[in-house]
Amino acid sequence: MSERPGDMSERPEGLSGRLGNVSERPGDMSEQTESRGALLRVSGLSKHFRGLVAVAGVGFAVEEGTVHGLIGPNGAGKTTLFNLISGLVPADEGAIVFGGREIVRLPVHARAGLGIARTFQNIRMFEDMSVLETVAAGAHARLSAPVWHCLFDLPRYRAEERAVAVEALELLEFVGLAGRAGERAGDLAYGEQRRLEIARGLASRPRLMLLDEPAAGMNPHETADLARLLRRVRERGVTLLLVEHDMGFVMELCDQLTVLNFGRRIAGGAPAEVRTDPAVIEAYLGKKAAARLAARGAKP
Ligand SMILES: Nc1ncnc2c1ncn2[C@@H]1O[C@H](COP(=O)(O)OP(=O)(O)OP(=O)(O)O)[C@@H](O)[C@H]1O
Ligand SMILES: [Mg+2]
Repeated sequence: MSERPGDMSERPEGLSGRLGNVSERPGDMSEQTESRGALLRVSGLSKHFRGLVAVAGVGFAVEEGTVHGLIGPNGAGKTTLFNLISGLVPADEGAIVFGGREIVRLPVHARAGLGIARTFQNIRMFEDMSVLETVAAGAHARLSAPVWHCLFDLPRYRAEERAVAVEALELLEFVGLAGRAGERAGDLAYGEQRRLEIARGLASRPRLMLLDEPAAGMNPHETADLARLLRRVRERGVTLLLVEHDMGFVMELCDQLTVLNFGRRIAGGAPAEVRTDPAVIEAYLGKKAAARLAARGAKP
């Protein structure tokens, strides 16, 4: 199992770097998706760890077919919110409605079965598994052959395994890892492991994928490739909720943003609105710097 901390060193400095420039986004789906409704609706969600309130009464909705960004300074509660949505940690209070169904008390595997997949801020995979086995493992959660079929190598089990392998190979090609199927997962470069995690997530055929800092530790070229890949994931019909500190990446890719600070939702909306929101600027820069900027009438 490899656990590598997300590399913070590449986070762009300065407000323009942090909040980025908003440009025309290719393949903007917002018009198509507005009418499709919320796939995920979180309300009044809270979590505390002993004395510390990590997530405090957070509410927001993720529209089906969109890329939704969850941003905020370090320690804002983003990963905790992902853990609450995927079921890794239980909520103290609040509601999580996914596909019209209340899931806040369901265990992790039940939420995965309903179509929630995720990747982790610190890559989690078994280094000694092959690349193909890693993706296939993502598919096994949704397979129907009972366990004892595998013990006796029955035909239904064999047919399912063949189908899983074919789909895993297709997914490896989709994420740009064709030809690497037989390699050890632990031998892949860092950016490749992040792509492998995405392929593993897709193998479970999710409706919603939670991506925690997918661009962490990537160089600008890899980050641009990742943005292209995630647009293609959305085109496959998968809704994306992503946490990311690379603001250029976020502003370019996301249709909607939710901003957290100290566990609270402080802003939300389209990237162009959010990047000029005074509360967001203050959360990133601190009160004094935000006031100086406002006094100068400077645009972020
Ligand atoms: N298991 C835990 N036990 C105690 N405190 C925790 C636990 N998990 C998170 N926290 C605390 O909750 C707060 C929110 O942490 P979280 O990891 O959700 O932030 P984040 O927004 O993902 O930060 P980053 O951008 O650095 O990844 C932090 O103060 C953190 O120390
Ligand atoms: Mg985090």
